Parts: sequence; structure tokens; C-alpha cells
Amino acid sequence: MTVIGLIGAMDVEIERLADLLTDREDERIGLDVFMRGRLFGHEAVLAVCGAGKVNAALCAQTMITRWRPAWILNLGVAGAAAPGVTIGDLVLATGAVQHDMDTSPIGDPPGYISKVGKVILPCDEGLLRMLRRAAETIRGVRIHEGIIATGDQFVNSGDMRGRIRERFGAVAVEMEGAAVAQACCIHGVPCGILRAVSDSADGEGGMDYSVFRDAAAARSQEVVRALLKEVDA
Ligand code: ADE
Repeated sequence: MTVIGLIGAMDVEIERLADLLTDREDERIGLDVFMRGRLFGHEAVLAVCGAGKVNAALCAQTMITRWRPAWILNLGVAGAAAPGVTIGDLVLATGAVQHDMDTSPIGDPPGYISKVGKVILPCDEGLLRMLRRAAETIRGVRIHEGIIATGDQFVNSGDMRGRIRERFGAVAVEMEGAAVAQACCIHGVPCGILRAVSDSADGEGGMDYSVFRDAAAARSQEVVRALLKEVDA
């Protein structure tokens, strides 16, 4: 039986989908609770991994070891990193980088991930196509595609945002996607990252994140609903 995997960092990024699970059974492994069940005819496993790369990688690794999903999607909210990307927009990753991984003083390119031997962790093209189709069903929303930059900090200054944009050409910043992508890449599990923009990441928006987080999180879950309704189980 094939299972699909969905990982968000916070409850608010997963709860609308978790509410739709039927035949739900929870399994706790370490600090992660994996919600197994059926979602629009698909066998699915959902988890809230907590913020940051280590939490995300551990959760993805456990999910892969235990269920070996056909694919894993990391969904949720993000800060904007490119001109023209604004609150409420959707961002689909073509690939992901770890912007705070830096061994450049000893000769590696910025973002180089040792052992994996890559800077850009790939996202699955087939899953990206499905995400694009699903996102296009959401009325009046702008969709961007490109590199998503992940790191263990909430980006909230123009300087930091500018550095990440300049170094990696990132479209959005968040704190988990590239860690999920690393676990998936290591195990040959197709990976996708879908984010809705909650803030401008430049410190100019004041309280943007707290105002727009929930609506952005709902929007990314809406895309997943459209995706799962569309795709054959
Ligand atoms: N998630 C949502 N907004 C973010 C930001 N500005 N930086 C990092 N992660 C985020």
C-alpha cells in the first residue's frame, strides 16, 4: 500500500487537513505524532515537525523509515524573498537550499551540504507539475516558482533577506523545506515544497506574520486539498 506524506512545522499548517482524515490512527515516535488515515481516497501520513531544520529532518527521516511514502510534501508559510512576491502569494519550490550552511571559508561553495554533495536539493518535477495544476485552481492567487531558502532563523531584516536572495536567488525563506528535501534526497523519495507567503521577511511589515500567518497556512492546505482531489489514489 502506498502512502503519501505531508509535513508542516506548526499545527496551523496541518490542522485543516488533519481534520479531514478518516480512519485516523495516531502513532507517536520520539516527539513526533504521525497521523495516519485516508485523505480524499489516498492513504496518508501527516505530521507537525516543529520549527527548524533538525526537527524537520528527524521527522522526515522517521516518516521515511516507518512508511516509505510515495512522495513527501512540506507545506506551510514562508517569508517573501524576491521582488514581486507578496503576502498571500503561493510559492512552489523547484529546489531548496540551506542558506545558513556555510563552509565557504574552507573552500566549499556557500550552502554546500557535505556527504550529499549538493547546494541545491532537488524537488520532484512530477509533483511540482501536480502542485502547479492544483495551485491554478485557487482563484485570484499569484503563483511563483523557484528556489526556497531554508535556515534556522526567522528572517526579519532587509540585509539578511537581501544576502539570501543574492547568494541563492531565493524566492522565499522558511525554516524546514530543505531539511525535508535532504532526507528525501538521501532516500530517493520524491519531495515537494509548497508555501504561502505570510510576511515580507525584511522587517518592514511590523506585525505582518502574526496577522497573515493563519490565512497563509490555510491557503497552502487548500492547494493540497485540490491536489489530492485531482490525483488518482
Ligand atoms: N516562515 C514564515 N515567514 C518566515 C520568515 N520571515 N523567515 C523564516 N521562516 C518564515
